[in-house]
Amino acid sequence: MSTERTWAEPYKIKMVEPVFMTTEAHRKKAIEEAGYNTFLLKSADVYIDLLTDSGTSAMSDRQWAGLMMGDEAYAGSRNYYNLVETIQKYYSYKHVVPTHQGRAAEHILSQILINEGDYLPGNMYFTTTKLHQELAGGKFVDIIVDEAHDPDNLYKFKGDVNLEKLEALINKVGANKIPYVSIATTVNMAGGQPISLNNLKAIRKLTNKHGIKIIHDMTRVAENAFMIQQNEEGYENKSTAEIVYEICSLTDGATMSAKKDAMVNIGGFLAINDPEIYVKAQNMVVVYEGLHTYGGMAGRDMEALAIGIKESVQDEHIKARVGQVFYLGAKLLKLGIPIVKPVGTHGIFINAKKFLSHVQQSNFPAQTLAAEIYVDSGVRAMERGVVSAGRNKETGEHNYPKLELVRLTIPRRVYTQAHMDVIAESVQRVYERRDSIKGMKLIYEPEYLRFFQAKFEKL
Ligand code: F0G
Repeated sequence: MSTERTWAEPYKIKMVEPVFMTTEAHRKKAIEEAGYNTFLLKSADVYIDLLTDSGTSAMSDRQWAGLMMGDEAYAGSRNYYNLVETIQKYYSYKHVVPTHQGRAAEHILSQILINEGDYLPGNMYFTTTKLHQELAGGKFVDIIVDEAHDPDNLYKFKGDVNLEKLEALINKVGANKIPYVSIATTVNMAGGQPISLNNLKAIRKLTNKHGIKIIHDMTRVAENAFMIQQNEEGYENKSTAEIVYEICSLTDGATMSAKKDAMVNIGGFLAINDPEIYVKAQNMVVVYEGLHTYGGMAGRDMEALAIGIKESVQDEHIKARVGQVFYLGAKLLKLGIPIVKPVGTHGIFINAKKFLSHVQQSNFPAQTLAAEIYVDSGVRAMERGVVSAGRNKETGEHNYPKLELVRLTIPRRVYTQAHMDVIAESVQRVYERRDSIKGMKLIYEPEYLRFFQAKFEKL
């Protein structure tokens, strides 16, 4: 008899929200009207929503109870102090400025730390992070390991930084042109891939030598910590909470989109150890967000967030969360679907270049595939390829990333194993008829973050 036992989610369901299947004819019309952009679909037309894991998680009964404890004072709400204490306890950071979501923290931090002509090395770009760095006059430089750009490479820590690339940049432009190194846990655009603590420690050593800060995009830090516990030598007996704390302690500050790991529907913060930067951020937040003791959040939202942070680092929670993603990943691999390997922690990233190998990257294979999956089953995914990568600022040409992916993003505590089975079946159906699928052409694009609002036409 096997000693390996099966596992289940560490919760039971207390309230449900109905979802509805539509007809294929209805979905064809809906996606055409949406310009073949899943961001422009109405959620009522979606059956299983895998657009994002951002703000889409199910809050716990404790978090809902926390909402009732909201202290909506304009200044000095007790929920703010509770949130600050929670962040200090679990994430180690000293000072906190709440914001309405992650990109607001990125905006404030970029404006404070970046000067015209600066360089921002990072372990692959994230769309909003890079945009705010550029708007502040900086230039993003990708220093992630090469393995991260190869969807089939099985390296376990594809979020790692190539230290030689970092050192070469420092030698080339000088440390005074690098306000900070941007480190994300986990790396979203690489397919939800973790960075190892060993690598982070080495980055710390190198940046200390040159007096460069590390700013941590801690949006999915608990998921990264779990992968360290599973795969990094010396961490197998540490709790996720301990690893999260250690990661944060190695960095100087963080921007957080609390809508992911921390399972709130809206919220974020900027955390920083340097008191001078904190004072500047406190001043800027009143211009763009709200008073420094609520930023962009209601008191009740800050309370739900404080509770969400505690829940997010519990081993039983994170094991089930990542376990569900791995369940879907294993199923798709078994069906022979080309996906990014190793499977990431917040979603499955289908390799659209391979899936639709006959569609040129200039005809948007990932955008096309996301639309086809929606038509098949009402499952809403999103593009992470050439559309997301935008245009080269100097030449105006499309940036052609090596990774042309469709992300099936799994919200936390929302869908069941049966939903995962339906998703896998739908991807399989589309895979079977892949040869009949043609690409698309771009008919409209906005200036910033075009993937959110661009429109397409079938070829
Ligand atoms: N950093 C990372 C790694 C993210 O994934 C996101 C958001 C942000 C920063 C920005 O945070 O949305 O709260 O302003 N990612 C979402 C996604 C939108 O679907 O991956 P935000």
